Amino acid sequence: MTGKIWGPAEIIKKKKEYIMPCLYHFYQAPMQLVRGEKQYLYDHEGKKYLDFLAGISVINAGHCHPEITDRICEQVKTLQHVCNIYLTQPMLELAAKLAQITPGRLQKSFFCNSGTEANEGAVLLAKIATRRSELLALQNGLYGRTYLTMSLTGLRFWRTDPSPAGGISFVPNAYCYRCPLNLTYPGCDLACAEAARQVIETSTSGEVAALIAEPIQGNGGMITPPPEYFPRLKEILDEYGILLIIDEIQTGFGRTGKWFAIEHWNIEPDIMTMAKALGNGVPIGVFTAPPEIADTYTRPGASTLGGNPVSMVAGLATLEVIEKEGLVQNAAALGAYLKEKLVLLQEKHPFIGDVRGLGLMMGAELVKDGKEPATPETDQVLELMKDRGILIGKTGRARNVLAFQPPLVITRDNVDEMIENLDEVLSEVERSK
Ligand SMILES: Cc1ncc(COP(=O)(O)O)c(C=O)c1O
Repeated sequence: MTGKIWGPAEIIKKKKEYIMPCLYHFYQAPMQLVRGEKQYLYDHEGKKYLDFLAGISVINAGHCHPEITDRICEQVKTLQHVCNIYLTQPMLELAAKLAQITPGRLQKSFFCNSGTEANEGAVLLAKIATRRSELLALQNGLYGRTYLTMSLTGLRFWRTDPSPAGGISFVPNAYCYRCPLNLTYPGCDLACAEAARQVIETSTSGEVAALIAEPIQGNGGMITPPPEYFPRLKEILDEYGILLIIDEIQTGFGRTGKWFAIEHWNIEPDIMTMAKALGNGVPIGVFTAPPEIADTYTRPGASTLGGNPVSMVAGLATLEVIEKEGLVQNAAALGAYLKEKLVLLQEKHPFIGDVRGLGLMMGAELVKDGKEPATPETDQVLELMKDRGILIGKTGRARNVLAFQPPLVITRDNVDEMIENLDEVLSEVERSK
């Protein structure tokens, strides 16, 4: 940023003039954010906010972490970019570290610049490895904003393209609060996973390359499948020789109390995609596979900025900080505490229909008159929380799920402060009805 601070009104005016209108922002009365430190953000008037969204699950190590920032600055001053037609070391250091922390035999990586690009690349790899072209995706999932990743996305809100790609079939997801098959867990015997078999048999030629899924559907509303779900789904896919691409773009790097969320289900993905928190704010994307799958990608493939030394060093420094500061463990402990507190709020406020998630990836679905989505009320809650200096997110098919995804450096006091304010805000919104 150069020169004087414009303030929100001027920014909104300039957005209308220079930015495409598809880019919305939160809040009726938004602030201009100018500074971040740890779990806190500061606006143009110096007001402090407790950040419970972390730039949508990106700032896992906290805002402007001095060690990460210093390493990035040092690299920018030494060697910023040459393209991977030349040999540089940081990309290999990060790839080796990812091979160590990712589940099972995931080992070889391709680096790019965003989550969308990682998913697009993962699908390409699956097609090359299987020599098949059709794809499966979960309803309610979100995978990106390019032609293919948007076509794989199972949320109308984010499916802008009026002529999406063909060869994609959708499988019902494990949304137990609103079961797409109108069943109840565990009596359902995981009919949603079994539905994959029916979709394969009825809607595809049988030549399916891969199914793509998030372990917890972030944009879908923090939808968290039961423990038996992914093992059952993987078994079915294996029967048909279909690869499982697991999208850890929102769930990865300690967020759910393990390095990767899929570890909660104890299965090994065939291909895994990552982005967001790996760079702690620096653009980065990567997909990783075991050698027998990765080694089928032999024809030239490159990304000008993918694997650049600055993003790679940011990734390495971020992983070091997450390890050194015990942030995976903190996410597990404080996530359990946050869930306990949210469940207590649910008992008090009928507004909260469901609390779900793992670690510090938690959602609270707001409903009224039974299970009708309380969408405008969700906006009201967000606005009132912001006025009190606390930033939370919203997500879900009906945009009625409060999203709690703070930097993993938060404390118990931060959780208590957020919960106390949320309790009062929910009462205020309830009273106004
Ligand atoms: C689960 C998931 N996959 C993919 C993406 C796309 O990532 P990006 O915005 O970095 O392209 C997102 C973005 O929110 C996401 O949440």
